[in-house]
Amino acid sequence: MIDPFGRTISYLRVSVTDRCDFRCVYCMSEDMNFLPKPELLTLEEMDRLCAAFIRLGTNKIRITGGEPLVRRDVMKLFGSVGARLGRGLDELTLTTNGSQLPRFARDLAASGVRRVNVSLDTLDAAKFAEITRWGKLDKTLDGIFAAKEAGLAIKINAVALKGVNDDEFDAMVAWCGQHGFDLCLIETMPLGVIDGQRVDQYLPLSHVRAQLRKNWTLEDSDYQTGGPARYFTVAETGQRIGFITPMTHNFCESCNRVRLTCTGTLYLCLGQDDKAEFRPLLRSGASDAELDTAIREALTRKPKGHDFIIDRRADAPSVARHMSVTGG
Ligand code: 5AD
Ligand code: SF4
Repeated sequence: MIDPFGRTISYLRVSVTDRCDFRCVYCMSEDMNFLPKPELLTLEEMDRLCAAFIRLGTNKIRITGGEPLVRRDVMKLFGSVGARLGRGLDELTLTTNGSQLPRFARDLAASGVRRVNVSLDTLDAAKFAEITRWGKLDKTLDGIFAAKEAGLAIKINAVALKGVNDDEFDAMVAWCGQHGFDLCLIETMPLGVIDGQRVDQYLPLSHVRAQLRKNWTLEDSDYQTGGPARYFTVAETGQRIGFITPMTHNFCESCNRVRLTCTGTLYLCLGQDDKAEFRPLLRSGASDAELDTAIREALTRKPKGHDFIIDRRADAPSVARHMSVTGG
């Protein structure tokens, strides 16, 4: 699948629920309205769409949310999509907050998952409770170590928050090095209405990287995961550190992905409203050929890139939907 800008689209992210057992301050407001259950695709419908994307050349699928592991019976989807590994699909991964990994790590590994991204913004229990509002650091750490135990490679995702976790990045590099985890730092993006002022939390990663270089040797690396992160190897630990900089550096030229929400909306870009609706099609008995045609048509509408800006006066989100809807 090639889009109008010549980019090969080979990566599908599937958000299986917009719900979450946390309420991270940069992601959600405390009092969220979630999608009504009848609007959700069934896991079978999601699997059918995944199959269509694989047929058209998608070789990597990431299951995300919200928190994907709070969707009831989600392991069935890992089972059915995992069964497509080696038959068009090369990689099945997930992004999770880790809280449910003690329960599911082994099943994930058994379904063919080899790598997980776990969101962890701090190693300080009090700060963790503050950032996630509803989370417990111990539970997430238990989840991370359960995943390690199950043989999964782990990447820690941390959103860089000014005045919140910016004094901890050295400690996190050391901790990840000690346990054999990669680390990825992310700039906050203006997605969805939250309770506070997002501009107050925004921290450009160029500063963070300069700061880290005082204590660590960051060697250029051409490692690529198919994601937008720019990676370095930390010479002292041998682990990688990545920087995702949607705000300071536009990574859209190399975009290879589209995103399916739990209600069957395909968003062509995280930062734009261009979309295609698949639920009506699925529920009106569309054939595989009709699904394929609809996917191809949607791809002709993939926008060139996002227009995120940090607007000090307005502080309105660039895009109204939360990350938990489109999928992280
Ligand atoms: N900006 C940047 N990152 C975000 N995440 C959630 N909301 C935002 C946002 N507005 C992060 C989560 C998770 C990943 C999927 O995205 O912390 O690590
Ligand atoms: Fe949940 Fe992830 Fe959003 Fe936090 S960032 S509230 S863990 S979906």
